[in-house]
Amino acid sequence: MTFEFAGKVAVITGAASGFGRAFAQKGASLGMKLVLADVNPGALAQTVEALRAGGAEAIGVPTDVASAAQVEALAQAALAAYGKVHLLFNNAGVGAGGFLWESSANDWSWVFGVNVMGVAHGVRVFTPIMLAQNEPAHIVNTASVAGLLSPPAMGIYNASKHAVVSLTETLYHDLQLAQAAQSAQAAQAETAGAQVGCSLLCPAFVPTGIADAERARPADLRNDSRPTRSQIAAGKQLQRAVQSGKLSADDVAGITFEAIAARRFYVVTHPGIMATVKLRHEDIEQLRNPTDPMSLKPEVKGAG
Ligand SMILES: NC(=O)c1ccc[n+]([C@@H]2O[C@H](COP(=O)([O-])OP(=O)(O)OC[C@H]3O[C@@H](n4cnc5c(N)ncnc54)[C@H](O)[C@@H]3O)[C@@H](O)[C@H]2O)c1
Repeated sequence: MTFEFAGKVAVITGAASGFGRAFAQKGASLGMKLVLADVNPGALAQTVEALRAGGAEAIGVPTDVASAAQVEALAQAALAAYGKVHLLFNNAGVGAGGFLWESSANDWSWVFGVNVMGVAHGVRVFTPIMLAQNEPAHIVNTASVAGLLSPPAMGIYNASKHAVVSLTETLYHDLQLAQAAQSAQAAQAETAGAQVGCSLLCPAFVPTGIADAERARPADLRNDSRPTRSQIAAGKQLQRAVQSGKLSADDVAGITFEAIAARRFYVVTHPGIMATVKLRHEDIEQLRNPTDPMSLKPEVKGAG
């Protein structure tokens, strides 16, 4: 089953920069109506303005995805503007680096609030809306190759993205089960079953604003203490790695929309990474101690 984009409604979180903005531009080029959400209202307004200037139908809804109530309000705003939601990108994400034991409670709350609870709220709020519409719909959760590997000095980010991987694989199974039951009923009632799918996006390093994620940290989750040596080193390493990324955010958007059209689940934008993913899986299967992915190939350092 394929997915038609023209005239359909896309909701995108983290839409004011990087991948989110590239998804919005790609969606606009395909004739989609856009509901853009971001915690940065200024950058969000500029993004919406630029899309409208290009002829797109778009609204901006300032949203902190870590807030259950704000994600619920986002869904209401989307339905009020366009009546339906066909495509959801749970994409907003942030990171904090350094040795695990040096990370603060605020670091954990902030990164898990956005990367894990943001995706959880999106799935919880939008999936029932999509199922009730009884039309083709799709959810894309942005994880990372950091959800498939465990590179050192980025433990909170890794753990949050591993959570997104497992959450999204489970969502896939849950949707299959729920819709098999629905199709059986629909066959009896001679109506079409629902067609809600999902994909897991796992990019490696790509030049975006991710290395400057601190700009989006709320004041009440800032750290009082100065960054440690491992945190400073991790920040510099991230800056370098992100800037050296070969693919652009537009490339990632193109690959992702192709995967949605084909209803493909795993979207791995840098396939060179798969050898290292395989090695991790073999470590587990053979009960070997974990291999440090950063000690391997240059492309493995693409764990962004
Ligand atoms: N760029 C990479 O190398 C890379 C690689 C793998 C995965 N990712 C993931 O891609 C996603 C998008 O990141 P990006 O690289 O485009 O970075 P980015 O910093 O350019 O964009 C992220 C956007 O999310 C917004 N945001 C931050 N906190 C938010 C919140 N609480 N609620 C709503 N919006 C919020 C920011 O304001 C920003 O506009 C993230 O989930 C990130 O972890 C990025």
